[in-house]
Amino acid sequence: MSASTKPRDNWGSKLGFVMAAAGSAVGLGNIWKFPYTAGDNGGGAFVVIYLFFVIFIGFSVMLTEFAIGRRTQKSAVGAFKSTDRRWTFAGVIGVTSGLLIMGFYPVVGGWAIAYIAKVGTGLLSAPEAIGDSFGGFISDPIQPLMWMAFYLFLNIVIVMKGISGGIEKAGKILMPLLFIILIIVSVKGLMLPGSMAGLEFLFSPDFSKIDSNVILAALGQAFFSLSLGMGCMMTYGSYLKKKENLVQTTAMVTAMDTGVAILAGVAMFPAMFAFGMAPTAGPGLVFVVVPQLFAEMGGIIGLLLALMFFIGLSVAALTSSVSLLEVVVSYLIDEKGLSRVKAVITASSVMAVLCIFASLSLGGVGPTLFDTGAFDIFDLLTDKIFLAVGGMLVCIFAGWRLKREDLEDEITNGGEVKFPLFGLWYALVKFIIPVAIAIVAFMGISSGFDSGKGAIMLLGVGIIAGAALISKKF
Ligand code: PFF
Repeated sequence: MSASTKPRDNWGSKLGFVMAAAGSAVGLGNIWKFPYTAGDNGGGAFVVIYLFFVIFIGFSVMLTEFAIGRRTQKSAVGAFKSTDRRWTFAGVIGVTSGLLIMGFYPVVGGWAIAYIAKVGTGLLSAPEAIGDSFGGFISDPIQPLMWMAFYLFLNIVIVMKGISGGIEKAGKILMPLLFIILIIVSVKGLMLPGSMAGLEFLFSPDFSKIDSNVILAALGQAFFSLSLGMGCMMTYGSYLKKKENLVQTTAMVTAMDTGVAILAGVAMFPAMFAFGMAPTAGPGLVFVVVPQLFAEMGGIIGLLLALMFFIGLSVAALTSSVSLLEVVVSYLIDEKGLSRVKAVITASSVMAVLCIFASLSLGGVGPTLFDTGAFDIFDLLTDKIFLAVGGMLVCIFAGWRLKREDLEDEITNGGEVKFPLFGLWYALVKFIIPVAIAIVAFMGISSGFDSGKGAIMLLGVGIIAGAALISKKF
């Protein structure tokens, strides 16, 4: 990872680390995925469960990943492998998740960049056409592919040159800006007549809407949004100095990530309800609601804010996707002995092919599995299965393979940092989280069989089991 993730001995660099880790966490998952997933899964009840998972599972898993990374001083695969070769597969699953997430993330990243151009060339002048224009755009076979290629190209340049420091610096300015724009969007949305219904949808839970699908969706969203379950935060942890306070760092990254997600929800739903749109608008939500709101605002201010929003969204997406690409690249460099250039080309070529399938599937082109297109397959496999099972494996590894004293030593910096909840954290990691994830995944998969999605998720479990069985080969 970049030089700026290597902290120096002062507070400034500590903030640098937090911002780098938050740069990975805050991305399309918060601003694009969270609102529509909440919308699809009943609103308030989903949000409550999501927050519960973030606090009890996400926080603990992030702390575990940081601790393992810093203890072993290695990135994903190496961290497992150096402790116990039989655990190598857990790292390899993380790398596979990175590859698969990058099979659709750049497609959406491409949309974000395309929308900078679209807003700049008059999208806002015909507010009534914004919805149709999005539908037409993503189902077009060519246009989104070109934007995806451009987005992926930016990732390649950044990771190949090892200059992610530059993008992190851009993130440091643009992320707070994005935050401010989200606040403006929220205030603007809340001022529209009929907007309160949106807040109610988001915050007053109707628990009758909860079923095992909703619970698994909330768990998956927590992992995806916090960049957990694939060794990404382990790699970041390996760059942390021994004297940094891991608990505090984890709390800051978790709070920032969750704050942005909730804010994105507040920015979207009141406006949506005011515009009479259905909360189940799906993946197009942010691309339709935000331009519509700024079109409504009108004038040069509306235009500038819309432009800044999509620039901010693109940069937030980039700071996340470079961390995804880097996980795969560092695996190829460290474990397969490739040069950085070759590693980047190999990884991104596979990603490009996956992205072509993903993008085309939205226009109904290309192969399907159980009636599900490539975009949804990659999303389902990673967000619902790989990341959650990856997080479960991290916990089992820490709880059962590493020594309790070593973990305590690492997390408390040899007794210097007080962490009165250590016992609770340890019990969560060793017993409760693995069992909870197993139950949630099992129930989610079984109920997913109604829609054919269960079969795809089961396939994901099969892939993991297969990887574990042949793990000695890795
Ligand atoms: N957390 C990122 C987002 O919310 O967009 C996505 C992501 C990045 C997931 C890195 C996993 C990861 F390792």
